[in-house]
This record gives sequence, structure tokens and C-alpha cells, in this order.
Amino acid sequence: MRIDYSDRDTAAAEPEASSMIQSFRAIGYSFETAIADIIDNSVSAGAKNIWIDYVWKGPDTIIGITDDGLGMTNDELIQAMRPGSVNPLTARSENDLGRFGLGLKTASFSQCRKFCVNSKKNEKESCWTWDLDYVNQVKSWKLIKYKPDEFDLNKYIDDLSSGTTVLWWDLDRLTKDTQADKESSKTDFLAAIEKVRMHLSMVFHRYIDDGLNIFLRGRRIQSWDPFMIGFDGLQSRPEISLEKGAVRIKGFVLPHRSKLSAEDYNYGKGPRDSWTDHQGFYIYRNRRLLVGGNWLGLFKREVHYDLCRIKVDLPNSMDNEWQIDIKKSVARPPTKIRESIVAIAKDVRAQAVEVYRHKGKVVRRKLAKEEYFPFWEEKTRHGKRFYRLNRKHPILKELLKNTNGLTQQFEKVLQFIEETVPVPLITLQENENERPHGQPFEGKNHENVIDVMKTMYKSLIAEGLPPEHARARIANIEPFNFYLEYLEHLEKI
Ligand SMILES: Nc1ncnc2c1ncn2[C@@H]1O[C@H](COP(=O)(O)OP(=O)(O)OP(=O)(O)O)[C@@H](O)[C@H]1O
Ligand SMILES: [Mg+2]
Repeated sequence: MRIDYSDRDTAAAEPEASSMIQSFRAIGYSFETAIADIIDNSVSAGAKNIWIDYVWKGPDTIIGITDDGLGMTNDELIQAMRPGSVNPLTARSENDLGRFGLGLKTASFSQCRKFCVNSKKNEKESCWTWDLDYVNQVKSWKLIKYKPDEFDLNKYIDDLSSGTTVLWWDLDRLTKDTQADKESSKTDFLAAIEKVRMHLSMVFHRYIDDGLNIFLRGRRIQSWDPFMIGFDGLQSRPEISLEKGAVRIKGFVLPHRSKLSAEDYNYGKGPRDSWTDHQGFYIYRNRRLLVGGNWLGLFKREVHYDLCRIKVDLPNSMDNEWQIDIKKSVARPPTKIRESIVAIAKDVRAQAVEVYRHKGKVVRRKLAKEEYFPFWEEKTRHGKRFYRLNRKHPILKELLKNTNGLTQQFEKVLQFIEETVPVPLITLQENENERPHGQPFEGKNHENVIDVMKTMYKSLIAEGLPPEHARARIANIEPFNFYLEYLEHLEKI
């Protein structure tokens, strides 16, 4: 509907430059996601090589990102420096990683107060700078023709026929309260750089595998493959297409820990250094990773799904439907295909649990008649459910045998524990808490688990049980069934 305003007064209400830039700063990039956003532009510009360099000088630290892509003419560069330089509704070429016409500005301002872009195209170089303090001072969106001389901006560009360098300095967030010559400042900075390396190795892994070179201070970044393709024991599901082939989904069940060397097992932990943090969907937009291991609110992270990773490939024409955000770090499945995605994921998850528990099954299957000893049992009393500690569990049995006359006291305490188990609280938390429920002894030192396992094993052997039987029985005792990999320790006894 179009309203006729021709006889109305109007008033100019342009965005206030300095406060607008401050809002850009609050979009929520991390250092590594901001750098990935700059690299998106290089990839879209067809770069084959990208060089990330830095000069550590405490608060005067500088970071430069150069590519050998198409480059920009002076006019194109000025347009690129404008916030909202491209309309998000404009159709993009199939290989374009951009969407909003904002990334260069928002990612840069999220990290620094000053940045310049120096670009070369048709043998001509242009350079423009945004300075937040200058914008604040003049209160208008004005670029400055300024090239900082503390950094060799032409290190790569001189030898290239076209390319672009983005230079960040006055990195107030990263280098706040640091000193150039302070050891701890430098250590923190290098840790941030290391995070960048790991993040890029994941986000661009498919590009790196196809030959894209990203050099961090001259060292090529290696790719990190979340699906561990080529590793022994990997299981993959057939690819499934949705939306007429636009969305492609492939489930992977990674190899069981027992199949991996210690080094490969650590590889699987990925940039987040945790299998659990890396389970879930991996959403790619034009083969660039947006989400690296997340259940998208459809399921919870639970340790027995550690081996489950599901690849989802999207084209850049579905940005709206998947609610891709400016930082390219969020994606949400559209309602109309959510159910299909849940069904596919359930299937892969079920297989992943099978593999996760597989080793135990092999041991246990050998002695199917072996009794299972849970720590807790469910009981019914007057038609109601209660939980009771299993007095036959070997740990309790042993304790109750050696109570030194305190049997009654022990029984009393056990009874009080049983009668006050906070079942309603646990149930409520289970349904409403975002955080997953940990498994027994998760995140704790496992020495106790191994110790008790060994003691029990020794006494079973002393009772005359053959070692294989003894191990199978232990595999059936809670919580050892969660830690079957430790059964190997027993073989050496
Ligand atoms: N390294 C580069 N080489 C060539 N052109 C570039 C480069 N970086 C940016 N540009 C140009 O500047 C424009 C604006 O970049 P910017 O990152 O702000 O937005 P975008 O990539 O279009 O979208 P998004 O907000 O999703 O990142 C790009 O569309 C591209 O035309
Ligand atoms: Mg961009």
C-alpha cells in the first residue's frame, strides 16, 4: 500500500554516525569470528592465497589480512567501505560468501577503532581508512585518505596484479591494558592468535582441502576435518536431499575411542578441545562452516552422542529461511523441514550411541547371563515410584560386609539418602535446563574409578573367576559400563 505524502512536511533523521558505529561494535563477534568474516570477503573475491600477519606492540599492535583476489577500484572500495554497501535482498553469485554488505565494517569495528583497506585492481592502488575517533569528532560518516606507515602494507600487494589488504590497528578490545614488553600480555595475545588458527582450520576446512592457502605469519593453516574422513572405523550414512536438492544432509558416526590412537583421539576434539562440544550439526553455506557442532536447540548435548556429527549443506539462496545472521555464526532450520531434520538426526544419533557403547556390548555379549549391577533401582510402594540403592552392588556389598558393627547406622544413612532423592528437581532440570546432564564421574579425575575397578577385579580373580569372566562382570557394574576403555588396564594386572 502506497500512501501519498506529497503535502506533508518531512525532517531529516540520518543515523548518528558515532552512535551507529558503537552499535556495530556490539554485534558480538569474537576475535576469531571477526577475522573469518574478513576472509569470507577474500574467498568471495576469488583469492587463492591469504596472508594474516601481525606486529605485536601491546596497545599499538597491528593486524593485516591480505589476499590475492580481484581487488577493488577506488570507487568500488569507497562503496565497500560504506555500511550496508550491498542490499541483503540482492541475489548473489553462487560462490559469494557475503549477504548484508556489512561484514567488513562490523567485523573490523568489533575489534579495532581504526582500520584501512588498501586494494589494487587494474594496476592501480587505492587506500581508505575508517577511524572511529575521527567519526566521533566530526560526527559524520567520513572516510580518510590515510595509509598508516607502521606496517608494510605493500609487502604482498607489490608483487600481485590485484589484491586487497585489510589493516586493523588500535585494537582496543584485544589489547586493552596490555604492555608490549610484558610477558603475560604477549602470552594472552598469542593464545588469541592460536584460537584464530584453530577456528579458521575448521571454518574453511573444505576450501583449504581444495587448495586455498591461508598463511598465519607465513605458516599454512592445516584443515581440521570434523568428520575424520579416512580414519578407520568411521561410519557414514547416505546423503539425504531436502527442498529439491537444495539442502543436503549426511550423517557421520565417528570411530570409537578404542579404534583411535591417542593422537587421533585428540584430533577429534577439534578447536573446542572436546568431543562433546563438537557433537551435532555442521551447517555449511557454500561450503563455508557457519555452525561447527550444535544441536540447534533440537536435542541436548549428551556424552553418549559424542560420536555423532551431521553435515548440512546449504546454498546462499536460503539465507532468509535459515535466518543466517550478520556474523555468519547462527542458522535455524525452517519450520517446514524441521521434522525431517529431526528424523534424520534421530537415526544417526541412535547409531552413534550403538557405536559409543559397542565395546561394552562385545564384552558383555560374551557372557550374556552375567548379571547387571546398577547402583540405583526403581521400586514401587503403595503404587508409587521410589529409588533404592542396590545392596547387591559390589561396592555396597563390600561396605556392608565390613561395617565394624555400624551396620545399623549405615542402613539408616542409606535409607535417608534413598528417601530424599530429589526426583522432582532432577526431572524438572532434565526438561528445562539447557545444560546437558553429565555422566557419572564426567569431568572428574578417573583415578578412583580405575582404582575401584582394579580392586574389584583382583578380588574376583582371587575368588577363582577366569580373567575374561571377571572383566565381563566388571563391564556390567555401574558406573564402569561408562568407562569400558579402562578394562584394558585390567588386562595388564
Ligand atoms: N577482500 C576483498 N576483495 C574484493 N572485494 C572486497 C573485499 N572485501 C570486501 N569487498 C567488497 O566489499 C563489499 C562489502 O563487503 P562486506 O563484507 O562489508 O559485505 P558483504 O561481504 O557484501 O556482506 P556481509 O555483510 O555478509 O559480509 C563486498 O560485497 C565486496 O564487493
Ligand atoms: Mg563480507
